[in-house]
Amino acid sequence: MSARSHYYVTTPIYYVNGKPHIGHAYTTVAADAIARYQRLKGREVFFLTGTDEHGQKVLEAATKRGMTPQEHCDDLVRHWQATFERLNISNDRFMRTTDADHVAAVTAVLSHLWERDLIYRDTYEGWYSASEERFWTEKDLVDGKCPLSGNPVVKLKETNYFFRMGRYQQQLIDHIEANDGFVRPTSRRNEVLGFLRRELEDLCISRPKSRMSWGIELPFDADYVCYVWFDALLNYLTGVGYTPGAEGDWQQWWPADVQLIGKDILTTHSVYWTTMLMAMGVPLPSTLYAHGWWTSTGGDKIGKSKGNAIDVDLLCEEFGVDATRYFFLREIAFGADGGFSYQGFLTRYNADLANDLGNLAHRALSMTKNWLGGTVPAAVRTEREAELAELARETVAAFDGAFEQWQFHSALGALWELVKAGNKYIDDTQPWGLNKRGEVERLATVQRTVLEICNVVGCLMRAVMPERGAELLRRLGRDAAAADRDTRAMLAGEAAWLDLLEPGTDLDVADPLFPRHRKMPAAIAALFEDVSPAPAPKKKKAKKKKKKGPPEPPAEITYDDFAKVALRAGTVLTAERHPDADRLLVLTVDVGEPAPRQIVAGIATRFEPEDLPGRKVVVVTNLAPATIRGVESRGMLLAAGGKAVVDLVAVDAAPGEIVR
Ligand code: MSP
Repeated sequence: MSARSHYYVTTPIYYVNGKPHIGHAYTTVAADAIARYQRLKGREVFFLTGTDEHGQKVLEAATKRGMTPQEHCDDLVRHWQATFERLNISNDRFMRTTDADHVAAVTAVLSHLWERDLIYRDTYEGWYSASEERFWTEKDLVDGKCPLSGNPVVKLKETNYFFRMGRYQQQLIDHIEANDGFVRPTSRRNEVLGFLRRELEDLCISRPKSRMSWGIELPFDADYVCYVWFDALLNYLTGVGYTPGAEGDWQQWWPADVQLIGKDILTTHSVYWTTMLMAMGVPLPSTLYAHGWWTSTGGDKIGKSKGNAIDVDLLCEEFGVDATRYFFLREIAFGADGGFSYQGFLTRYNADLANDLGNLAHRALSMTKNWLGGTVPAAVRTEREAELAELARETVAAFDGAFEQWQFHSALGALWELVKAGNKYIDDTQPWGLNKRGEVERLATVQRTVLEICNVVGCLMRAVMPERGAELLRRLGRDAAAADRDTRAMLAGEAAWLDLLEPGTDLDVADPLFPRHRKMPAAIAALFEDVSPAPAPKKKKAKKKKKKGPPEPPAEITYDDFAKVALRAGTVLTAERHPDADRLLVLTVDVGEPAPRQIVAGIATRFEPEDLPGRKVVVVTNLAPATIRGVESRGMLLAAGGKAVVDLVAVDAAPGEIVR
C-alpha cells in the first residue's frame, strides 16, 4: 500500500465513435470504487476519466453522421457524461482530448521531444490497417490480414515522424523485472515480457494530413497531425495539469497509483506509454492493472433485434444502479474474463442483495422497532458478541487487504461473510423467542449487535454501492460525518468495532433496501422472447429400467459424431490458481489463434501453476464457452485419469495444428 496521502486513479479514455456499453461501464465503475474507497480511507483522490476524440475511428464515425468531427464529439460526449452520471461515477475531471489545455500540453511535449532528437523524420514502407490505425510488418500479418482485427491491410510508403521507442527496450524490461507489481495481474506481466523478447521498434507518431487530418498538429510540421494514441496516452498527465519541464501541482498526483486498462490495450500502455514517460523524464505509474472482458455466454439466447448486447441502462432501470455496480465487481475476479448472463445477474441479486444483506438490514431494523421501540438499544455483551466483534475486525482487515490490491470480488466476498454471520447469529439467538419470553436485556443486546454489523457493512459497502450504503446508514440514524470518521478508524484498524452506534438514536425501517425479484423483470424477459420457430416436441423416451452394477460404457458413436469435436495442439502461456476454487487453474493457451484462449481446468490436484507455462497440450476448441465459478473458460484440455488427473495429453506440434 502506498503511504502517500494523495491517490491518483485513471481509466482509459473512450473513443467517441459510439455510445458507452458494458465494457466501458465496467472499467469506470471499478475506478470509481477505487476512488471512493481511498476517499473513505481519508486520502485526497484524483480520479480521471474521459473521451479520446481524435483519430481515424472518430473521424469515420463523424463522416457517417454527416457531421464535422468536433460536432460529432460534442454531441456524443453528452451520452458518455450522462451514463457516467447515472452510474454515480465520482470523477474529478472528465478529460476530452479536444480540451484546449490538453492540446497545448501535447504540443509542448512534441516540441520537447523533437528538440531532444527523441522524435525524427523518416520514410517507412509497411502494411497499414485502417481499423487499427497502425502499420504492421510482413511477418506480423495473419493470412495477409491485420493480426488484431482480421481486416484487410494496404501497402503504404509514407514519410512520417518516429519516436525513438526502441531505445528504451532494456530500461523497460529492467523496470518490469524489478517491480513485481508494475503490470498486474502477473499473467499480463509475463505477456508484456514475452512481447519485449522481440526487438522493440520505434513508434510512428504522425499521420499526414493528406490521409487523416483529425488530430493535434505537429508543432514542427504543419502537414502532419499526431498519432491518436500518442495524444491520448498523454491525457493521464495533462489531466492533472502537466507541462513539460515545469514543476507544478501535477506532481502531487503523479506517478499515478493505479491506471486501469482493459487487456486489449495492454501493449499501448505497458510499452508505448511507459517508454514515452521514460523519454520525457517522468516517473512511471506504480501499477498498470489490466482487467478482462465481459462476453455474452453461449447459453444466453437473446432474440429480437437486440442481438446479444448487454444493456447497462436497462440493468440500472430494473435492478438499480448500485446492484449493477455490485454485480460488475462481485461476479468475476478483476483481471479474468467473464460471461454475462441476465439469469446470473438475477440469481446473484436475489441471493446476495435481496436475501443476505436485505434480510439482515430488515431484521435488524424491524425487530428493533417492533419490540424495542425503534431506537438503538444498549447492550450487555457476552462472549458471543465479542466473537462477532473480532469477526468484524478481521472482515475489515480482509476487505482492506483485497481492495488495496484491486481484488473487489474477494473484498466483497469477505464482507458478505460478516453479513452471513449476522444472519446466522439471528437464527441462533432467535430474538422472536427472547421477545416472547420477555428477556428484554438479551433481546436488546442481540438487536444492538445486528444493528452494529449493519453499520460496519453500510460504512464499507459505500465504496461499491454509494447510494444504498448511505441509505442503510441513514436508516441506522447515522450522521454522515460520524460515519465517515468511524469508517476511517475501522480502516486504520482502530475502531470500537461493534460499539459505534449511539444508544437512543431513532431508526427508520423503510422499504426493503433491495426488493426481491421473484422472476426476471418483464423488460429484460422480453429480450429473450424467441423469434425462431418452436422446436419440434421431444419424443418421450421409453423409461429404462435401472440396472444395478457398474455403469454401462457409452453407446457407439459414428465417425461423424467424433468429427464434430475440434481438437487442436496448444501451448500453455500462463497459469494461475482460480480465485475461488482450489481444484481449478486458470490458463491462457496459445491454440494458433490471434489471441490466446482463457481455459479453466480442474488440474490443480496434479499440477502447480508454475509447472505449466510452455507445456504442450491438446485442446477441445469448439466447446461452448462456460463461466466456471466466475471465470470464463473457452475450451477444455485433454487429460488422462478421472477426477484425479494423472497427466495431460500432449502432442509435439505447433499451436493450432489439427489433432484427430
Ligand atoms: N481510446 C482507447 C483508449 C485510450 S487510453 C489512453 C480505447 N478506447 S475504447 O473505447 O475502445 O475502449 C476502452 C476500454 O473499454 C478498454 O480498454 C476496456 O477497458 C473497456 N472495454 C471495452 N470493451 C470491453 C469489454 N467487452 N469488457 C470489458 N471492458 C472492455 O481503446
